Amino acid sequence: MATILGIESTCDETAAAVVVDGRHVRSNVVASQVDLHARYRGVVPEIASRAHIENILPVLQQALSEAHCTFADIDAIAIANRPGLIGSLLIGVSAAKTLAWALGKPLVAVDHVHAHLYSGELEELMVDDRGMMNGGSGPGAGFQSSIINPQSSFPSVGLVCSGGHTALYHLRSWNDVTLVGSTIDDAVGEAYDKVAAILGLGYPGGPILDQLAAEGDPQAIAFPRTLLGRESLDFSFSGLKTAVLYHVRGVPGRVVESSQIKPPPTPQELRDIAASFQAACIEVIVKKLQRAAKRFDARSVVLGGGVSANRGLRAALANFPLPVVFPQPVFCTDNAAMIAGLADVLLGQNRVAGLGLDAVTYSEIRRQPVEGASA
Ligand code: KG4
Ligand code: ZN
Repeated sequence: MATILGIESTCDETAAAVVVDGRHVRSNVVASQVDLHARYRGVVPEIASRAHIENILPVLQQALSEAHCTFADIDAIAIANRPGLIGSLLIGVSAAKTLAWALGKPLVAVDHVHAHLYSGELEELMVDDRGMMNGGSGPGAGFQSSIINPQSSFPSVGLVCSGGHTALYHLRSWNDVTLVGSTIDDAVGEAYDKVAAILGLGYPGGPILDQLAAEGDPQAIAFPRTLLGRESLDFSFSGLKTAVLYHVRGVPGRVVESSQIKPPPTPQELRDIAASFQAACIEVIVKKLQRAAKRFDARSVVLGGGVSANRGLRAALANFPLPVVFPQPVFCTDNAAMIAGLADVLLGQNRVAGLGLDAVTYSEIRRQPVEGASA
């Protein structure tokens, strides 16, 4: 039974978590930078790395204290060293290496995107003042966890859908993961964020549009569904985003008289646009999951990433012919519990990293994939 301290700093969340046995989350601390980046409607790398420096030590301390642990209780340090923004990654990687060296504990390197796939395996446990573990009572409390038995559920098809990724995987086990499809332009979460910006809503756009969509008519506007051919497992969302832009502002060049300039959408039109946009995203995602499940003879489907919190997507997959595993909402967005959780699997196979471990950016991964990394 291993107790692992996980660290996550790949993008704009500084996070640390203590996870026992790859599954039981004793603490899960996330310092979000969303407020710092909101005015730019996207992550500013320089601001992100500076905030990680400020946050990393308090976040680590809080994770240990909430888990009622000291460093002596920790068996290994897990770090998401790939893929991400270089300045952000380096803060977490340096902290993890320092801890591993100073404490004499093994260091485990985890792929952030693969860890999103694993996040449905996590169980939130809250620790009371005496260090006793209870059922969860945080944001994910009361949510029906559909934890599957990994032994019986592979091969599986996994989808990581977030602000940075729309990546489809064939999983033979938790660490035999092959990328089989990805977005050729915008990630689905990015499309949510950009559509929210077009509509003058806040950032991040996903939760806001999800909320609005619940009150709108998904058939009000026939936005395009881009499937990229009959066999493709890739995704494209930029055409859909542009279709929303043209619907709201008119097609450029076609507006010749001021009377043709569209007024801003009414509240009900906003709800209908949100619902119709969301319906298009979901239909494409479900279709690709069906294709992949058939192609790889899958026995289950696993989802992860911020967009896997989407209520419409969860409802649409409720009748999928295979078991579908969603993370508890608290583990959908970036967190370190998923890093510590997957590290438990890797540690069990002696996949320990050296202190020369490097941070690997998105573009480096695209140029030269290394063992086990297909994102
Ligand atoms: O996984 P995540 O925290 O970060 C990345 O690795 O990108 O995902 C953040 C993304 C944002 O684009 C956000 O708009 C989207 O997830 N998101 C949602 C929902 N909650 C977060 N998208 C759709 N529906 C939601 N409920
Ligand atoms: Zn992520």
